[in-house]
Amino acid sequence: MNTTISTLNKYDGKEVTLNGWVYNIRSVGKIWFLILRDGTGLVQCVVVNKETDSDTFELESKLTQESSVTVTGTVRSEPRSVGGYELGVTKIKVHQIADEYPISKKDHGADFLMSNRHLWLRSKNQNAILKIRHQVIKATRDFFDNNGFILLDSPILTANSVEGTSTLFELEYFDRSAYLTQSGQLYAEASAMAFGNIYTFGPTFRAEKSKTRRHLTEFWMVEPEMAYCDLDENMDWAEKHVSYVVQWCLEHCKEELKVLERDTSKLEKTIAPFPRITYDEAVEILKNQGVDFEYGTDFGGTDETVISEQFDRPVMIHRWPCEIKAFYMKRDFKNEKLALGVDMIAPEGYGEIIGGGQREDDHDILLTRIKEHSLPLEPFQWYLDLRKYGSVPHSGYGLGIERTVGWICGTKHVRETIPYPRTMYRIEP
Ligand code: 4AD
Ligand code: MG
Repeated sequence: MNTTISTLNKYDGKEVTLNGWVYNIRSVGKIWFLILRDGTGLVQCVVVNKETDSDTFELESKLTQESSVTVTGTVRSEPRSVGGYELGVTKIKVHQIADEYPISKKDHGADFLMSNRHLWLRSKNQNAILKIRHQVIKATRDFFDNNGFILLDSPILTANSVEGTSTLFELEYFDRSAYLTQSGQLYAEASAMAFGNIYTFGPTFRAEKSKTRRHLTEFWMVEPEMAYCDLDENMDWAEKHVSYVVQWCLEHCKEELKVLERDTSKLEKTIAPFPRITYDEAVEILKNQGVDFEYGTDFGGTDETVISEQFDRPVMIHRWPCEIKAFYMKRDFKNEKLALGVDMIAPEGYGEIIGGGQREDDHDILLTRIKEHSLPLEPFQWYLDLRKYGSVPHSGYGLGIERTVGWICGTKHVRETIPYPRTMYRIEP
């Protein structure tokens, strides 16, 4: 029977067949050891002359790193071995002897590894990070599904901007132009008016010219949108969502976090409620810490780090100067200069992981805002409709999957948190 390395504990004493790739080979006299990798784990396979046929035994000098093989053998408990089990080999079938593998155990530069991303994915750390990504997405979907949200996909090809016009990817769309979506939000709002609480989850695109460790040109965002929901309730959802995801990963990604040598003591503190401060209070923190900051501008990476250092869990900053926030944000009735937006900043210098807020729900005010932002009216007609037919207070947010994974894994650069990263300078592999 074919099995996988991660389930070997169920087959102690039994014969199994594993499909995988050669991770490493070493020999000691009349015995040699093949460390096999199959994507679910590593296992040591022991090849002894008298227990195998001679073709199998002679493979020692032929097999190279990443050669593809099917190994048959008997599972035995071996506490000193990786994974706690080893395989006493009876037969190895070779599928392909790999060419000399470009990635070795020695240190390679980031550029070399990125150019070999299609192979680098096989490495232990990358494997761990992307398994955690899988769990972050699973936990996110479970969270919303368990709370009665409906998943409704927003389109990727759109006629409108969402987050400003400077980062739009424009493309030919038959006899007109279209854009790759920057955010599923506007459609999420329409969906929320049809279904109540919804979320949209998909790739989003921004022609980011900044070459930072936090920016990709293609990234995945999960965007819940709630009808009859104000800014405070929006923050309630955001903190519950993020605590759920982090606690889920702490429980279900222990092995991966160990591989990454992540200090999890700080992550353990990620339990709702999170601190909530206004933009003004955040500016006050910067002042007190001696940071030179101009009121009314957006926080930079270092500003976010200084602010987050005041707290032991993610912090939510709300009520922003309206000039630096998007056209669709509702204003604070107590101070028209403030937009009811919220950003969530992760601890330990990982920066903004969530952006969101309460949406403007009045037709005429929204129309004025679209004009003030010099946006073309035509592509927003359907969006304005939502304010004509049963408009209600509503809110939502977008959580960036890559930044969240980066924080949980302790990976400083987001390029390692997505299988095939896209940046200004890289569209291959
Ligand atoms: O703050 P942003 O721009 O908010 C929106 O797009 C809203 N329309 C979402 C909503 O309310 N439904 O982006 C949300 C999050 C950021 O906090 C960040 O985590 C991530 O998306 N993000 C990026 N991640 C990687 N690379 C980029 N270039 C990113 N831009 C935003
Ligand atoms: Mg933002």
